[in-house]
Amino acid sequence: MLTRTIDRFIYTPYFGSMESPTTITTPRLRLTHITGVESGSIALSDLHCVWGNEIATKWNIHGSCKTLSETEERARTILKKAQDYFIVHRKVPGQHLEVAEGKDAAPSESNYTWEAIGMINLVRSEKPDLDPLPIPDSKLQRDSQDSDESAKLPAVQTRSIGYMYREEAWGKGYGMEAAAALLNHFRQAASRMDSPTLVYVEAGVDPSNTGSLRILEKLRFQKVGLNVIADEKVFLAGEWRQNEYPIYGLYL
Ligand SMILES: CC(C)(COP(=O)(O)OP(=O)(O)OC[C@H]1O[C@@H](n2cnc3c(N)ncnc32)[C@H](O)[C@@H]1OP(=O)(O)O)[C@@H](O)C(=O)NCCC(=O)NCCS
Repeated sequence: MLTRTIDRFIYTPYFGSMESPTTITTPRLRLTHITGVESGSIALSDLHCVWGNEIATKWNIHGSCKTLSETEERARTILKKAQDYFIVHRKVPGQHLEVAEGKDAAPSESNYTWEAIGMINLVRSEKPDLDPLPIPDSKLQRDSQDSDESAKLPAVQTRSIGYMYREEAWGKGYGMEAAAALLNHFRQAASRMDSPTLVYVEAGVDPSNTGSLRILEKLRFQKVGLNVIADEKVFLAGEWRQNEYPIYGLYL
C-alpha cells in the first residue's frame, strides 16, 4: 500500500458526470433517487415515513420531522446542496395474491407492492472530513512498466454514506443489501467515466452503533480516525454525547 497525503490528491467533487440512476434494484429492494419533493407526492409521504420516525432518526443530529411540512422543508433544504439521496422500498406481497395460470405458477411482479422502509445517501463533498486512507495499490493506474514508481494518481471524488431504516425492517439484511448495491452502482459508474476517477467514501458512526459498524465492516471499510466536531455535547440516540465520532473510509 502506498501512502498518499491529502494535499497530493486531486479532489474533483464536481468533476465529470456520474449520473444517478432513477432506481437501483436488488432481489428484495428498490432504491429510488429523490431529485425533489412536491407537496402531496408519494415520494414526500415515503420520505416522511422515515424522517418522521423517531427511532429511525435517532442518530440524526436534527432528530425526526414532526409533520409532513417539516419533512418537505428539510428535504428542500438538503436537496438544494446535496444530491444522491435514495428512498429504500422493500417488496411486499400484494393484498390479493392470485396464481395466474396453473397451481405451480410463480407470483408475477404485479402481485407485489413496494413499502418505504428507509433512506440511504451517498453525498458528494469537497474533501474528506479527515485525512483519507492511503490509496491501495490495486486502485492505482499503472503504465506498461507496472512498477510502483509508474503508478499514477487517479482523480478522487469524495462522498459520505448515511442510512436509516424503520425499526420493523431491522435485522433482515436490508441495511447491508441496500448499502452494497449503492456502493456497487457508484463503483461501476466511476469506472465508466471518461477520466479515471476513484470514489472515496467516508462514514461516521458512533462506537455504540453495533449494527451500523457491522455493515461497514462487512463492506470492508477501515477506521480512519476520530472526527472532533466541537467541544460540546449533543443529544443523540437518547443521551448527551461528546460531539465527535470515528470516521471509516473505503475506496470503491
Ligand atoms: C444500523 C441499521 C442501519 C442496521 O440495518 P439492518 O437492516 O438492521 O442491518 P442488517 O440486517 O443488514 O445487518 C447487517 C449486519 O449487522 C448486524 N446487526 C444489525 N443490527 C445489529 C445490532 N443491533 N446489533 C448487533 N448486530 C447487528 C447483522 O446481524 C448483520 O451482521 P451479520 O450478517 O454478520 O449477521 C439500522 O438498525 C438502523 O437504521 N438504525 C437506526 C439508524 C442508524 O443507526 N443509522 C446509521 C447511523 S451511522
